Amino acid sequence: MSQDAIPFDEYEAVRKALYQPALSRTLDKRSFEEGNPRAGILSLLHGNEHRERRRLENALFRRQSLLEYEQVLFPKALAEVLDREATGRVDLFSLAGSASVVLAARRAGVDHDGSPEQLADLFEHVKQIAQAAAIHDIVGDRDRVQAETIASLAAFDRDYVTPSRRRREALLDAAEAGGTDDVPTDLLTAALRRLREGDDTFADHALLVREVGLFLHGGSHTSAQTVCNVLYFLFGLDGAGPRTEWLDRVAASRLDAQKCVHETLRLIPTTPEIKRFAEEDAEVGGVPIPCGATVALDARAANRDPDLFGADPDTFDPDRWISDDVVLWGHSFGAGPHICIGRSVAGGLPLSGAALRDGVGEEHLYGLIALMVQEVVARGVRPDPEQAPERDLRTSRGSRWLRFPVVFPGAGAEPTRAGIR
Ligand code: HEM
Repeated sequence: MSQDAIPFDEYEAVRKALYQPALSRTLDKRSFEEGNPRAGILSLLHGNEHRERRRLENALFRRQSLLEYEQVLFPKALAEVLDREATGRVDLFSLAGSASVVLAARRAGVDHDGSPEQLADLFEHVKQIAQAAAIHDIVGDRDRVQAETIASLAAFDRDYVTPSRRRREALLDAAEAGGTDDVPTDLLTAALRRLREGDDTFADHALLVREVGLFLHGGSHTSAQTVCNVLYFLFGLDGAGPRTEWLDRVAASRLDAQKCVHETLRLIPTTPEIKRFAEEDAEVGGVPIPCGATVALDARAANRDPDLFGADPDTFDPDRWISDDVVLWGHSFGAGPHICIGRSVAGGLPLSGAALRDGVGEEHLYGLIALMVQEVVARGVRPDPEQAPERDLRTSRGSRWLRFPVVFPGAGAEPTRAGIR
């Protein structure tokens, strides 16, 4: 836990804190010029300013576009990446990163040529921005991480954002002149449209670069990490031994794949400790929070409350019994005003007790992580017998991998799931 922060680890108290309007996410109040690579982005805003920005950006996550992503765009993009790269010895983290960055780039408005080199390059930027996003959990030199992120953002702007912006400006000009209406729907375009309407939210190009970077990172890093975390459980690397029954179920059923994703998120939240800053005196569940205090919300512990998640809350059991007013992923997407904007893209619709027992309807969203997990399992992924996965120890989160070596059939490897039988 953070030093000197006021801790909460009970489910209901964490929920209350996430809704407490006096608690902000603005722990670092420095400007970009003062060295804060996240200054002014959606996730650091508070109050009205946050509400307005969120309203603008929520529009990118309408149900109809999510269905299109999940049913049309993502299966195609995923198949392209996996057909090309899922063969022989592979790092699953990089593979899942390349696959998720394709769609994250589309939503953010980042043009690329689709080549393995550019997808890998984009994911390198994502990994750097992810370090800055976890700045309060960094083990080591925080100033260096922030300086490296500012340098990465400059290269990201030069190679991707500025060319993508130029193309969109030309398309918007053509549309305004009555030519073709070929303008994409994405964050960058939405911001440029606002500027043309006289709203100067994104008048500062450097802020726009940071916001586009946030969407690229938010839309891919946690998803790629979670794919590895699911396989960590399915391969039985938690010490339980290979879960072959679940591997078969996941390959055969997208709902079972989604259950595994949500159970994994519950046990390994990508942000295990959610932090808040008291902008004024406040109170959470009877505990006074003085103005200026930091609050540490332990999502990992809250997600293991036996009253809500059953007598064996530490065990990986995607079939677990929970009641209808609880969701299997617990607090792993946050709650309140800053609840993850991309949760339905990544995780689909939440699974409550009723959904786990009775199943789901045709319009159900399964989420892109479940699609990825199902597809890599169906393609026969198994652990690399020669190299163990390596955790990323540059943060204290415990949820991140540096690399997750696996083997797919093909290219001289002969996996029959033998490694996990
Ligand atoms: C496994 C997948 C994901 C997990 C576990 C996750 C988790 C979270 C959590 C816990 C928060 C809230 C943090 C807080 O309250 O302090 C958050 C916020 C956010 N997430 Fe995600 N996320 C995921 C995927 C995505 C995707 C696909 C996007 C797509 C763009 C995204 C974009 C964002 C953004 C922009 C915020 C800030 C929202 C705000 O402050 O209003 N995330 N995420």
